[in-house]
Amino acid sequence: MALAGLENNDLKLIIFGGKGGVGKTSCAIATALALSENFKTLLISTDPAHSVSDCLEQQIGFKVVRVDGTANLSAIEVIADEALTGFITEHHSELKKLLETSTNLDNEDIDEMLTLSIPGIDEIMSFKTIIDFIEEGGYDKYVVDTAPTGHALRLISSPKLLDEWIKVAARMRWKYRYMITSFSGSYQQDEVDAFLLSLKKTVKRIENILRDKTKCEFIPVCIPEAMAIMETGRLLADLGTSGIISRQIIVNNVMVSEGCDFCKRRKAGQLPYLQEISEIFSHLNKVEVPMFAEEIKGLESLNQLRMCLLGDKSLKS
Ligand SMILES: Nc1ncnc2c1ncn2[C@@H]1O[C@H](COP(=O)(O)OP(=O)(O)OP(=O)(O)O)[C@@H](O)[C@H]1O
Ligand SMILES: [Mg+2]
Repeated sequence: MALAGLENNDLKLIIFGGKGGVGKTSCAIATALALSENFKTLLISTDPAHSVSDCLEQQIGFKVVRVDGTANLSAIEVIADEALTGFITEHHSELKKLLETSTNLDNEDIDEMLTLSIPGIDEIMSFKTIIDFIEEGGYDKYVVDTAPTGHALRLISSPKLLDEWIKVAARMRWKYRYMITSFSGSYQQDEVDAFLLSLKKTVKRIENILRDKTKCEFIPVCIPEAMAIMETGRLLADLGTSGIISRQIIVNNVMVSEGCDFCKRRKAGQLPYLQEISEIFSHLNKVEVPMFAEEIKGLESLNQLRMCLLGDKSLKS
């Protein structure tokens, strides 16, 4: 079986996730390479480990660059700290005014507070960056590589966290509005209200894309081993709770060779797990990828992987 439906024009966002080391980055890049033949594609890495650069053998940073040797593939590594710094710089006056009008903090405390990191803010900023790209509409497809399971889940639950933050900020503002109204009889909306409203819209935009099965697809990557299967099960359950449904699963590192005793034993050892995957994830389209003799690095081996994931069929719809 091959990955299906990725060529659908409505499908914009394809997210790869799974346990550490199962092949998320390799599969995300190979899929992006295949898609880029017919669609203008942006590969986005949210993994702080910089593995996209290593795998592509090209320096990718927090700036979109064209991937060497491809006609239509660009890539960016979203660096959460830089995304947050950019956000604070852009909205410094609104954030400062929010704290000035809703707390008893003095100027020095406020400045210090604006340099502090808020838990979960990095994932929020990463996702906001992705959604901003999608809304700018410069590409047909956005393929996202995530760091291991917990990170993907935090990324996906980031809109909820942002929503809670906005609610707290709005409550803090409410007291300020009440005071102004009591003293002057009326209240005029200011730039802080507009800022909170625009953040609220961001949350809605993220949720709308994530939960729309025609626009977004999450592809779990698994290997035929006990811990990976358990973790994939939990990942899919948590995704389901967030309203995100997967249609297909990649089973990577499947032993095919029986050339030596070691290979035979590895292959036999994988059989019960492959069976278990077929049973537990029977509702998903299953794509098996063989274990290659060499690591996946550079366009040539990525193209080999791409053939395993998507075959040589044209992706044109
Ligand atoms: N089918 C395969 N055959 C051989 N090697 C593979 C295969 N798939 C992945 N690899 C190799 O396994 C290693 C891990 O792959 P990759 O970096 O894609 O995993 P990951 O899930 O993104 O890891 P991380 O959780 O650290 O981000 C890499 O060295 C890669 O080249
Ligand atoms: Mg990776």
